[in-house]
Amino acid sequence: MKILIASPIEADTLKQLEKSHDVICAFDAPPEVLSDCIKGCEVLIFRSGVKITREVLLASPDLGLIIRAGSGIDNIDIDYVKQQNYEFVRIPEPGARAVAEMSFGLMLAMSRGIFLADTKTKQGHWIKHEIVGYLLQNKILGIVGAGNIGSKVGQMGAAWGMHVIGCVEHPSPARADELLVKGIELKSFDEVMTQSDYISIHVPLKDSTRNLINAEAINKMKHGVFVINLSRGGVLDEGALQHALSNGGPVRAAALDVHKIEGEGKLSPLASLPNVILTPHIGAMTIDTQREIGRRILETIAAFESKQPKTAV
Ligand code: MLT
Repeated sequence: MKILIASPIEADTLKQLEKSHDVICAFDAPPEVLSDCIKGCEVLIFRSGVKITREVLLASPDLGLIIRAGSGIDNIDIDYVKQQNYEFVRIPEPGARAVAEMSFGLMLAMSRGIFLADTKTKQGHWIKHEIVGYLLQNKILGIVGAGNIGSKVGQMGAAWGMHVIGCVEHPSPARADELLVKGIELKSFDEVMTQSDYISIHVPLKDSTRNLINAEAINKMKHGVFVINLSRGGVLDEGALQHALSNGGPVRAAALDVHKIEGEGKLSPLASLPNVILTPHIGAMTIDTQREIGRRILETIAAFESKQPKTAV
C-alpha cells in the first residue's frame, strides 16, 4: 500500500512499514506539500505539528485509512473526515500516562525550583537557603478536563496525598461517581479555578475551549497558584498569563508544554520570564509510549490491508 507519514513516528515502526509498503515521509510539511505527496496514498499517518486540511485529503481519491498517532484532532478537518467514508483511527491511550507523568514532573520542578537550583549549582552558587520549596502533599490539585489524561493526573495526585478536584465538559452524577473512584471530586470550572493550588489543563482544543483559561479565569485563581498546560496552546491565553506572571497576578509559576505557536525558531512571549518553564510539546514523547503507538499503527494498517479487495495478478 502507499502510505504518507506526515509526522515523525517511532524509528522501528517506520522501518517495518518501509519493508512492506511504499512509504512517503513528509514530516511536518505544509499543506501544499502534503497535497502533493498524498497523491495515490491509501493511508495517512499524522501527529501534531501539521495541518491536515480538506484540500490535503481531497488530493488523494484513494485514501481509505487515516491514523492519528496520538490524541488531538485539532489539526485535521474533522468535519470533512466525518462526512467521508474514511476509517479514522486515533491512538490516545498510550500517551495519557506519559502526559500525566510529565504534569507531575513540571509540578515538582516548579514547586522545588529545580531548574533554578540546577543552573545556579552548575555556576558554582550554593543557593540552599534561597530556594523556596513547597510540598505537593495536602495541596489542592485542580484538573481542567478530567478525561483520559486528566483523570490519570488526578489519580497520581491522590496517590501523592493531594486533594484532587476536577471539572468536565458534561458533568453528571454518573461521571462524578466514576471520578470519585479515582480520588477526584467533580466540581465546576469556576470551583477548580478558585480553589486549586495547582491547575493542570487537559482539555482538547475546540471552539468551546479556545482561550478557556483567559484573563477572567486567571483573575479567579488563588494567589500563589501553579499552572501547567499540557493540552493545546490555544486553550490558554498566553498574553493574559504573561500579564498575571509579571504584574503581581495570582500565578506563582507556570509550565507550558504546548504553545500558541510551536516549532523551530518560534519564541514564546513567555520565554523571558524566570517563573515559567517551557518545553517543546514533549508530553507524549517517551520511548515506551511511542513504541506502543508504533505497535498499534502496524496492527491498524495490517487489519485495514486485510479488508482490502485482492487485486488479480
Ligand atoms: C497528542 O495529541 O497525542 C500529542 O499532541 C502528541 C503528538 O501528537 O505529538
